[in-house]
Amino acid sequence: MDDFTKIIVSENDIGRKLDQLSAAIREDYKGKDLLLVGVLKGAVMVMADLARRMPPTVQMDWMAISSYGSGTKSSGVVRILKDLDADLTGKHVLIVEDIIDSGLTLSWLLGNLRSRGAESVEIAALLRKPDAVQVDVPIKYLGFDIPNEFVVGYGLDYAEKYRTLPFVAILNPAVYGG
Ligand code: PRP
Ligand code: MN
Ligand code: MG
Repeated sequence: MDDFTKIIVSENDIGRKLDQLSAAIREDYKGKDLLLVGVLKGAVMVMADLARRMPPTVQMDWMAISSYGSGTKSSGVVRILKDLDADLTGKHVLIVEDIIDSGLTLSWLLGNLRSRGAESVEIAALLRKPDAVQVDVPIKYLGFDIPNEFVVGYGLDYAEKYRTLPFVAILNPAVYGG
């Protein structure tokens, strides 16, 4: 049995897209101090590859958050497991996410970070599932819109596995007993 039914975003697709997005980000933040905020754990890969395309003065910080709610449904009520080290006062913040699914996580995070006195707070996300979005979040830098399927790889997990794949693939339903 193959663990994946289809690769939907290849390693090359990701690299080319990050080249484009990073060029736009470098231009937009020229002369400004930029703080990239990654959301653990899914954003680790995109953060690493995006940050390496930035000027060496770019800073990285991390948050770990968890949605309250039963099972797989996220509720939009979020708990901070690990907060930022950085004080955001006067900073230009770019939240880096692997995927926007319902949008509930990011919607909450955007409000939370915007209340901390940052000069600006924007979002970069590699993937979005338009058919799953429940709340609209303004994404300044978006990689790909993808179908509403269970995808893994490049940071995205199923039961903490498959995060290390260099591509994004649809998980074979047989893996989760579907
Ligand atoms: C996933 C993904 C996003 C979030 C998107 O994280 O990495 O952070 O869900 O979902 P939403 O748009 O419906 O809120 P997850 O909570 O699975 O944690 P992980 O990053 O550690 O895998
Ligand atoms: Mn995540
Ligand atoms: Mg996950």
